[in-house]
Amino acid sequence: MRHVRSISELGRDRILGLLNLADRMAEINSRPVPKVPALRGRTVVSLFYEDSTRTRLSFETAARRLSADTMNFSVSSSSVNKGESLRDTVETITDMGVDAFVVRHKSAGVPWQIAQWTTAAVINAGDGAHQHPTQALLDAYTITRSRNSQDLAGLRVAIVGDIRHSRVARSNVEAFTALGAEVLLVAPPTLLPPVVSHWPVEVVHDFDSVVDSVDVLYMLRLQAERMNQGLVPSLAEYSTHYGLTPRRVARMSVDAQVMHPGPMNRGVEMVVDPAEIRGSLIHRQVTNGVAVRMAVLFDSLAVEPDHSALREEAR
Ligand code: CP
Repeated sequence: MRHVRSISELGRDRILGLLNLADRMAEINSRPVPKVPALRGRTVVSLFYEDSTRTRLSFETAARRLSADTMNFSVSSSSVNKGESLRDTVETITDMGVDAFVVRHKSAGVPWQIAQWTTAAVINAGDGAHQHPTQALLDAYTITRSRNSQDLAGLRVAIVGDIRHSRVARSNVEAFTALGAEVLLVAPPTLLPPVVSHWPVEVVHDFDSVVDSVDVLYMLRLQAERMNQGLVPSLAEYSTHYGLTPRRVARMSVDAQVMHPGPMNRGVEMVVDPAEIRGSLIHRQVTNGVAVRMAVLFDSLAVEPDHSALREEAR
């Protein structure tokens, strides 16, 4: 069992291996019957203590396309509501016979705790503001494959917005720099982490000073639930300074690309309609999420190291 809990735990070689494996999975997804028996007999449980659309559905789709059995845990209808602890929940599900936990939780570090309580592989689907490694993998995959490249060497990527609360930003900084990109963080001081001096990035407060010189603009969701902390004066002011407006899109390089992990706030960080951005990769991010999560599940759970199970369609 191989855990996938953070980008730093993976390192560059395993990241590159997973991106190459995702190419195999994308080929399977292009078949008339996108299903192989690679994980037949394996069971994957989705343990989501926070809401999700993309991550949860793409992991479940990925597991089924590899013929794994899936179990779905819903906090709202579980014994968590009777006071059952996270540890007891994990040990109970482990006793049923599962091979992987795909876990999302509001607290940083939960995937590491769970790994102490189960023999199954633990895959981090987002822990607090800490890590979202499969989002970073699918983002790296989307950029590299859109440019027929294996890594991000020579690219200048700006991550724009609410860095402070963003597990996507933390994972993407690690993944993008591991693959050779130059990364800029574009945000007001209030939406940066308290200390970023040790991050391998350049910090910029004036979005307009860099919008015409980057290869990729990675827009982050402004986490509106934080607004009562007074971190931005108003949504309108935030949009004016850090939103992607038609005027800013017009200033981007012709080959520049725009990404967003979703869910997006239209009219806040995405003032322009994404459908009108020629270089938008937003739909491709979602599509690639299935192939990348298939690669992660296969890499963590497959018995056959020669990948022969990927060749045969499931019957
Ligand atoms: N990008 C992302 O994690 O989206 P969900 O919250 O919908 O899974």
